[in-house]
Amino acid sequence: MTALLEVEGLSKRFTGRRSFADMLARRPAPVVRALEDVSLDIRRGETLGIVGESGCGKSTLARCLVHLHNADAGTIRLDGLPMEGMDSAAREKFSRRVQMVFQDPYGSLNPRMTVGQTLAEVLAVHRIVPPAQIAARVDELLDLVHLPRDAAARYPYEFSGGQRQRIGIARALAMQPDVIIADEPVSALDVSVQAQVVNLFLELQSRLGLTLVFITHDLRLVRHLTHRVAVMYLGRIVELGPTEQLFDAPRHPYTQALLRAVPQLTPGRRSDEAAVMGELPSPLNPPTGCAFHPRCPLAQARCSVERPEMREVGWPVACHFA
Ligand SMILES: Nc1ncnc2c1ncn2[C@@H]1O[C@H](COP(=O)(O)OP(=O)(O)OP(=O)(O)O)[C@@H](O)[C@H]1O
Ligand SMILES: [Mg+2]
Repeated sequence: MTALLEVEGLSKRFTGRRSFADMLARRPAPVVRALEDVSLDIRRGETLGIVGESGCGKSTLARCLVHLHNADAGTIRLDGLPMEGMDSAAREKFSRRVQMVFQDPYGSLNPRMTVGQTLAEVLAVHRIVPPAQIAARVDELLDLVHLPRDAAARYPYEFSGGQRQRIGIARALAMQPDVIIADEPVSALDVSVQAQVVNLFLELQSRLGLTLVFITHDLRLVRHLTHRVAVMYLGRIVELGPTEQLFDAPRHPYTQALLRAVPQLTPGRRSDEAAVMGELPSPLNPPTGCAFHPRCPLAQARCSVERPEMREVGWPVACHFA
């Protein structure tokens, strides 16, 4: 499998709000380092999982990939071509090929438009098909996500959460993307419908040859669904390996701790992982050296001063002692 989407050295910082105390003390506004030097290849046709505790930068990475955020540094290439320096036509084509599916399908759908209007608008604005073919294409999209065709005449509020997520997926598919970035696409859904939506992703991937990036807290889902997993910690990727092997023999002490916490994970509770390892340090003031060292059972003096580079330990791992 070759790289379809290549991320190199991506960094993104957010400037927080200055508190009154900060102003009095003439302190600058706090800066959150949401992404730090993230490099990653996404291979054509694969499903890549991205995992890590809340706040580690998963959504920021997803948003950079679809250009909802501009990264402060680094490049993103699609088929080897960087987006910087493209003219606007090439840029539009580029962004069409990478689409996002969000966690909350209700918040991301226009409540005043019928499902058919929403899909038709995408098809028309981006000139995906000629106007005469739009209605037929809307039907096809509904078929693809297994919604009845009469769904086109109805409004988002008339659908259940699982059905709304299907609409969100249909809208992403309307753009005929090569890559879909799904950010917690099932975590807002009832457990009973999660599996249906997950199976839809699997089916679409094999039918359409999609490349899928699947962001989730649910490690069981990652194991079921993905070919490779990237584990993030405080804005960095700390381990990136083939799913089965990584679950069998995780190399990074952080991944080991995450996997140990799996039986205790309950849907909708996000603090369980943290409870196992102690508190996550603030991304406003990340630890020196290896950011995981204050929580790491293997940490030595070196870990608090020297940040580990990614090295091959069967697959890339950022740990001095893996
Ligand atoms: N628009 C923003 N402005 C300021 N800070 C932000 C913004 N978006 C994200 N952050 C901060 O960046 C860090 C990474 O956030 P991000 O949403 O990417 O994490 P995440 O891994 O997706 O978390 P979760 O699992 O809770 O969705 C967090 O500290 C967050 O508070
Ligand atoms: Mg997120």
